Amino acid sequence: MKKIKIMSVFGTRPEAIKMAPVVKALEADDAFESIVCVTAQHREMLDQVLELFEIKPDYDLDIMQHGQTLSDITCRVLKGLESVIQEVKPDMVLVHGDTSTTLAASLASFYNHTKVGHVEAGLRSFDLYSPFPEELNRSLTGRIANLHFSPTKSNVDNLLREGMAQDTIYQVGNTVIDALIKVIKPDYTFEDDSLNLIDYENRKVLLLTAHRRENLGESMCNIFSAVRRIINEFPETELIFPMHKNPKIRELADTYLSGSDRIHLIEPLEYEAFANIMAKSDIILTDSGGIQEEAPALGKPVLVLRKETERPEAVEAGTVLLAGVEEETIFEMTAKLLRDSAEYDKMANAINPYGDGKTSERITTILKKYFGQ
Ligand code: UD1
Ligand code: UDP
Repeated sequence: MKKIKIMSVFGTRPEAIKMAPVVKALEADDAFESIVCVTAQHREMLDQVLELFEIKPDYDLDIMQHGQTLSDITCRVLKGLESVIQEVKPDMVLVHGDTSTTLAASLASFYNHTKVGHVEAGLRSFDLYSPFPEELNRSLTGRIANLHFSPTKSNVDNLLREGMAQDTIYQVGNTVIDALIKVIKPDYTFEDDSLNLIDYENRKVLLLTAHRRENLGESMCNIFSAVRRIINEFPETELIFPMHKNPKIRELADTYLSGSDRIHLIEPLEYEAFANIMAKSDIILTDSGGIQEEAPALGKPVLVLRKETERPEAVEAGTVLLAGVEEETIFEMTAKLLRDSAEYDKMANAINPYGDGKTSERITTILKKYFGQ
């Protein structure tokens, strides 16, 4: 029987983490010919994930430039993918989530009359400018996609409200849980020895990540000032901040957070190390999307450094709180968790609204059905 030719296209760290289990599931199934095209919207942070999951891309557009604008990324991916799609002629292109790679790859597929499957479909914040530009990216990708793989029921409902046909939408969970299960290890040893030397038993360890475009500038200054005050006022705390590669973030981090032996400003951790440091931390402060899905599964309280979230499930369950981007609120909410152990325990519930680790298997089963196998 003719194999179903699926081309997975991704370009940033989170897309790679969440598409790796899908690529592996496609590779393991004889029904498929799996092709991987990376845009390399991210370079080092993407390569870390490709190496960990042993994925060798068939095509690498290598588009990343420092200081790249949204138009730069979109144009380069759109143009770069044209010849790849025409050469490969896939039965379907799989894209993930909400990045500029996602939207441009969907558009390139549409222009070349190629079907699109959208993994992590239907998340909505209902504010076009936050997260920016992701809210528009995922809405437009949803409009183009022929198949929608949604993590949760509320994601499915969002798509139905937008008029997508019911028989194109599948609730499958989030592939991030498939990835997380593979990398968590109770006796994990970090390559960076400074992380092995932290006294996790007696210290309160805060883990910070921050990168969103809409937070660059004043909000990022507020976030860093609040965290610095926490470290100054609570001597039992330590901060780990694996800094995103974006130079704008690193400059601000250097200004606000350098010069303390209880603040560890480190390079982005490869995924396995990052997942295991999440498991060892006490509180996670983040503006990341994916971390809002992983931390609840590990029973770690999360303060979200954003004005909204498109992931309401963990907020409803009480493991995730919206802390916003004002210094005082972030400081007070973190301080409360440090002072009040009952409050902390209430949030430190392991819940997992995002899946059972079998999402990629469900996706391949649906793909086979869709292509009549
Ligand atoms: C992108 C996505 C965002 C996603 C985030 C995950 C868009 C518009 N944004 O944002 O949705 O949440 O990735 O991290 O698609 N850089 C490096 N090396 C790397 C990666 C980045 O040097 O491996 C630097 C480059 O200078 C680059 C800058 O970071 O220009 C910003 O990267 P970009 O992909 O434009 O935006 P992100 O903020 O990473
Ligand atoms: N992550 C990682 N190393 C780090 C920080 C984060 O591997 O130093 C992982 C994290 O576990 C999650 C993903 O990267 O799976 C989130 O990526 P990011 O915050 O860059 O993007 P977002 O999820 O906001 O799109």
